Amino acid sequence: MAEHRSSQWYAGNDRNAYIHRAWMRRGLPGHAFDGRPHIAIANTASDLTPCNSHFNEVAESVKQGVYEAGGIPLNLPVVSLGETLVRPTAMLWRNMAAMATEEMLRANPVDGVVLLGGCDKTIPSLLMAAASVDIPAVVIPGGPMLTGTFRGVALGCGTDVWRLSEEVRAGNMSEAEFLKSESSMIRSRGHCNTMGTASTMAVVAEALGTIIPGLAGTPAADSRLLEASHETGRLIVEMVEQDRRPSTILSRGSFLNAIVALAAVGGSTNAVVHLLAIAGRLGIDLTQDDFDRTGSDVPLLVDLQPAGRWLMEDFFRAGGLLAVLAQVRDLLDPAALTVTGKPLVDYLDDAPIWDPEVISRREAPVQPHAGIAVLYGNLAPEGAVIKPAAASERLLQHRGRAMVFDSIEDMHARIDDPDLDVDADSVLILRGCGPKGYPGMPEVANMPLPTKLLQQGVRDMVRICDGRMSGTAYGTVVLHVSPEAAADGPLALVRTGDMIVLDVAGRRLDIDVPAEELATRRPSEIAAAAYANPKRGWEKLYVQTVQGANNGADLDFLVGSSGDQVSRESH
Ligand code: FES
Ligand code: MG
Repeated sequence: MAEHRSSQWYAGNDRNAYIHRAWMRRGLPGHAFDGRPHIAIANTASDLTPCNSHFNEVAESVKQGVYEAGGIPLNLPVVSLGETLVRPTAMLWRNMAAMATEEMLRANPVDGVVLLGGCDKTIPSLLMAAASVDIPAVVIPGGPMLTGTFRGVALGCGTDVWRLSEEVRAGNMSEAEFLKSESSMIRSRGHCNTMGTASTMAVVAEALGTIIPGLAGTPAADSRLLEASHETGRLIVEMVEQDRRPSTILSRGSFLNAIVALAAVGGSTNAVVHLLAIAGRLGIDLTQDDFDRTGSDVPLLVDLQPAGRWLMEDFFRAGGLLAVLAQVRDLLDPAALTVTGKPLVDYLDDAPIWDPEVISRREAPVQPHAGIAVLYGNLAPEGAVIKPAAASERLLQHRGRAMVFDSIEDMHARIDDPDLDVDADSVLILRGCGPKGYPGMPEVANMPLPTKLLQQGVRDMVRICDGRMSGTAYGTVVLHVSPEAAADGPLALVRTGDMIVLDVAGRRLDIDVPAEELATRRPSEIAAAAYANPKRGWEKLYVQTVQGANNGADLDFLVGSSGDQVSRESH
């Protein structure tokens, strides 16, 4: 058996080895320290992350598998982020969670790690951490909720909150009815059951090769999740023995496979930022443009909310990710490996579609081109993204008058004003919502439509923002505009009344103002007054060092890896 890193704590008969073993001997027998792998279970279970609240049970199954394979499992609670609760936005803390997990994995006597993630930021932060420590690591995705129904109709988490609340504002639904739906939406344990960010990141992590193939999308309440958790416990011990690390599994090809998967399932735009950040930790050259180049010709093969009809339970029953990938097998890198040591494509031989209503065959896609388009222009010199599949076809080429909001508070204060000077062709612009500006790049880009237009029947408008959008949201929304307004991006120069030109086919986003005039404009002082200006703590570090969305919004000094080297002795 090769020497594991935990031996640097436990091997030998000196005083320090004695200390390391003695304090761990609360039920662990002497042979626990004979050189067998010690496996951390990075556990994001938290009562304040309701989507991950079942992870202690998952961890128990992992433990059984680790023991069975001859390893020692160790529960390691790590920073957990509940998307719906954490303010100002869970994204502000993604890098903190990644940094804390990275450091605790390196600081402790562990040889491998099982990553338990579910709610939006948890899988990305865990993968960023594992990539930077580079010890053998495997993800267990917590799984989506079962489908809840209201008045006989399925409710999609997130997506239907936006939809129902717009119906209330449009006067089509009473507030009492709206509130009644509240307890119907969350039917079981698990994360949001649309193809929102949590489901997307599970799918993407499987396509990357970091999950046992076939597991992503298994509902949280399904027995097969626990079965696979047991199996994952056995697998991580094998991975340690074979020294199968993130750096040996993950290649540029793995990321391109993930981009194909992201497009084929119509996944969340948030995956762009997360994949760029994970690639950055591995030193893999991946850019925003790769998403457009590799993803935009991929057919959309699933009909899932937010853009479509079905929910994750349906996706799983219809064959799940492997059934989707089997349809686009020729677009995948056949050499890209998975945690099992075998290539991803090896799992696609027997991956039928069980319900073509939910997962379409390549010949009859939901849409011929899916994926994410990256736009450039004088309004977004470093790029902006749009998910055409979630947008209105007629708005993909559009010219309209800007209505500019200088902050989220400004938007909320005026959006329902009956005198707001907007019509259906207006372009709503919200700035100050990038990583530095807000701070943390919240999911506000899908801003609500003005009430007076909703009442006229308008259901979509072009919206432009330097923030993000919830993976459960939909609409013609241009987001991640880079550089952000608070980083001196031209978004800070736009004025209400300027003409904005969106040309998705031409990949352009421009403000139709002569260059000479733009050059004379100064960034909006009203917008600047609302930018974050933290005086201490994590927020200060974050605002000073965070990179733009086009670079994954990681902190500049966290890019890359420090490896698994064991530090100096503590005593
Ligand atoms: Fe946790 Fe949606 S709120 S996944
Ligand atoms: Mg979200």
